Amino acid sequence: MKGLILAGGLGKRLRPLTHTGPKQLIPIANKPVLHYVIEDLVNAGIKEIGIVVGYTDERIQQIKDSAGNGSKWGADITYIRQSGPLGLAHAVKTAQTYLGIDDFVVYLGDNMLKSGIKEFVNEFENSDAAASILVTEVKNPGSFGVAELDANGRIIGVEEKPAMPKSNRAIVGVYLFKTTIFQAIDAIEPSRRGELEITNAIQKLIELKKKIISHEVSGWWDDTGNVDDVLHANHMVLNDLRHEIKGTIMPEAKIIGIVNIGENSIVENGAVIRGPVIIGNNCKICNETYIGPYTSVGDNTIIKNSEIESSIIMGDSEIDTGSQRIMDSLIGRHVKIKTNANMPKAKRLVLGENSEVML
Ligand code: TTP
Repeated sequence: MKGLILAGGLGKRLRPLTHTGPKQLIPIANKPVLHYVIEDLVNAGIKEIGIVVGYTDERIQQIKDSAGNGSKWGADITYIRQSGPLGLAHAVKTAQTYLGIDDFVVYLGDNMLKSGIKEFVNEFENSDAAASILVTEVKNPGSFGVAELDANGRIIGVEEKPAMPKSNRAIVGVYLFKTTIFQAIDAIEPSRRGELEITNAIQKLIELKKKIISHEVSGWWDDTGNVDDVLHANHMVLNDLRHEIKGTIMPEAKIIGIVNIGENSIVENGAVIRGPVIIGNNCKICNETYIGPYTSVGDNTIIKNSEIESSIIMGDSEIDTGSQRIMDSLIGRHVKIKTNANMPKAKRLVLGENSEVML
């Protein structure tokens, strides 16, 4: 069985961060989402992995620099370029030559699953199904691809964001296919939004009378497509954080709960960190700074006179909020937040396109 990670797409909902980098590289607890996906495939015994990449040479290079040839996971990674963000089924079709006659897992490169996919894959390999779909109960099925199941868990219909959902089971972004899916993709037309939709291809498989089974997700699942979901994934991963201090904690600094501090980082006297919190390498958390639960701070970051909680600071940044609290925020790389001592009530903003600030 091969793995196919879809890491093309535009990531419009995560602009401006995705103006400069692919969303699959956004760090969750200081590790790119893409790495969780690769680990998940490798843990399920899948080491031949194709990554579909999409737009701009720069972004493709960033993905290649991050995942390389896969050797650090004992995997063999091949990159496949999609001609444009033309849909998930189009991305799968683009990889047809690479996939050959093998069964395969399609894993959306922005999805994260607590339970992994091992059991899901084993169940499929021991079945005669043409496809298996991961599903989970949600409160708002109309915002997802929705699966209709019979009493045996067999899929009898799928619809993309239906106005009148036939069930409350959302389709999670990991799919298992046999090569018959290509027959189905060849038989569908682009949707109204101009994409070849994977749900339409699955519906076509059903019409072709192929057997499609389902597997219920156990544990949390997150599609890191927007800021709230990225922060949610960060919460969930930090819930399982390991306490480890590699850097230096000065005697008058206060560390409470589970905290992970990287090499060459220093937490100065007077700083307070209340976990779960992860701080990367070469960071400086200065006096009069409070870092609260569910915060991830990437490498090479200096934070002073600040209160930060439930946020991701991606790294290479300098932050001084003048003791104001930042919460539920996603802050990209090479960011400077400073206070204006001369005009404490005035805010000076230099923001890129599609930035969002709540004052
Ligand atoms: P989506 O989140 O559906 O699309 P997107 O990445 O373009 O984001 P947005 O809607 O905010 O613009 O994509 C899910 C995953 O599939 C993601 O990892 C990107 C990948 N993908 C492709 O590889 N090719 C495609 O044509 C599309 C649409 C997505």
